[in-house]
Amino acid sequence: MTSISVSDFLEFLTPLKAQDFKSEKVDRFLEARWFSEDTFLPFIHFRDDTYGRNLVFRNNFFELAILTWLPGHRTPIHDHGDQRCWMMVESGELTFKNYEYPASDSAKLKPLGRAKAINRGTKVYIDDDLGVHSITNATQKPAVSVHLYAAPINSCRIYNEATKRFERKLLSYLTEGVWSPEGELIESRLCEPLLF
Ligand SMILES: [Fe+2]
Repeated sequence: MTSISVSDFLEFLTPLKAQDFKSEKVDRFLEARWFSEDTFLPFIHFRDDTYGRNLVFRNNFFELAILTWLPGHRTPIHDHGDQRCWMMVESGELTFKNYEYPASDSAKLKPLGRAKAINRGTKVYIDDDLGVHSITNATQKPAVSVHLYAAPINSCRIYNEATKRFERKLLSYLTEGVWSPEGELIESRLCEPLLF
């Protein structure tokens, strides 16, 4: 495994266009690489009430985010708005549960296989063709995961457990990376308002 920094990863990602993200380029790049210790440290911010979405970098074609999970934090079951999603567990353990992609907002949820726990070093891929899913930190320790989404989206559909229907939810970030034109990180700043 070659060790790469967040800058190495962005150097690979930023020249890519929509068509590249539909190819196997990302999978091939990630195949033999992993992130160097602490490279994502500036982007690791936890929140108490729910999991944290920390944006590293975003352009028209992709967004790279660090998600932070305290014990018990979970996402609702959600779709991916037609995007491709690569996810890597950086630390801790997260549990995935997949369901068939719903034919309509009120369609009954159909589980796909059993819930699966994944740890550091594991890569997972999902898109709407594969289904919808929820992610949970079912452990007693914090967890951190790296998410690459192509293309970026501002909302997705989430399953409302009370009404048993999918509904549209706006997505926001806890923090966002601010970069200089030369590609140096200036800061990872708190986003306002916090929607989700
Ligand atoms: Fe997801």
